[in-house]
Amino acid sequence: MDGVLADTASLHFKAWRKLAKENFGRSLPDELENKTRGISRSDSLSVILDYLEITVSKAKFHRLAEEKNQIYRNFLTDLSPDEVLPGMRDFITDLRKKGILTALASASQNGPFILERTGLSKYFNAIVDPSKIEAGKPAPDIYLAATAALELSPKECVGFEDAVSGIQSLKAAGIVSVGIGSDHEVGQADLRFSSTGDINFDDVEEIWAEITNNA
Ligand code: G1P
Repeated sequence: MDGVLADTASLHFKAWRKLAKENFGRSLPDELENKTRGISRSDSLSVILDYLEITVSKAKFHRLAEEKNQIYRNFLTDLSPDEVLPGMRDFITDLRKKGILTALASASQNGPFILERTGLSKYFNAIVDPSKIEAGKPAPDIYLAATAALELSPKECVGFEDAVSGIQSLKAAGIVSVGIGSDHEVGQADLRFSSTGDINFDDVEEIWAEITNNA
């Protein structure tokens, strides 16, 4: 979702930066953005605390995670359908017209809120609740839960991701992966588009058929 459907991925990192500055007076380098992208709130916080070489109690960890979410939610006050990334509303509309089922497999617990505010909820057959998933991305669990919710096998599905952790999760689940972003970010994907506006259904179908037929 973040960075695929809605233009919210950079807001997460902006919130992590604010949290680190306000609590520890520290700045976070750009390269941490890629490392926290696509993974759960607590996993992101662990990555950041590791980088800062700071150890905190369980209670403080919980408070920091909660505070980050408050900061992030404040950034979302103006969230509207304008934040849907280029081409994505048309792309999902087209999928639905073709009778293709869709599921959201986001690590974010803000998923339903963001889909609602951007007017995208109605395009989804299933939304996986990440709080019910034991092992987050890069483990395959969340994508396997999505395929199960759609009553499909992983081989019948294609996943769209902007994060390394997400591509790894798709691969581990045996699902054809489409990466959105630079080669550095999602170069491991089966197919890559530089941005959402470049996604092309025929190319996606072709790579899916090629991989599935050879499997
Ligand atoms: C979480 C993390 C964030 C990560 C995002 C992925 O979102 O906080 O670092 O990039 O998932 O979509 P949250 O549950 O906090 O919205």
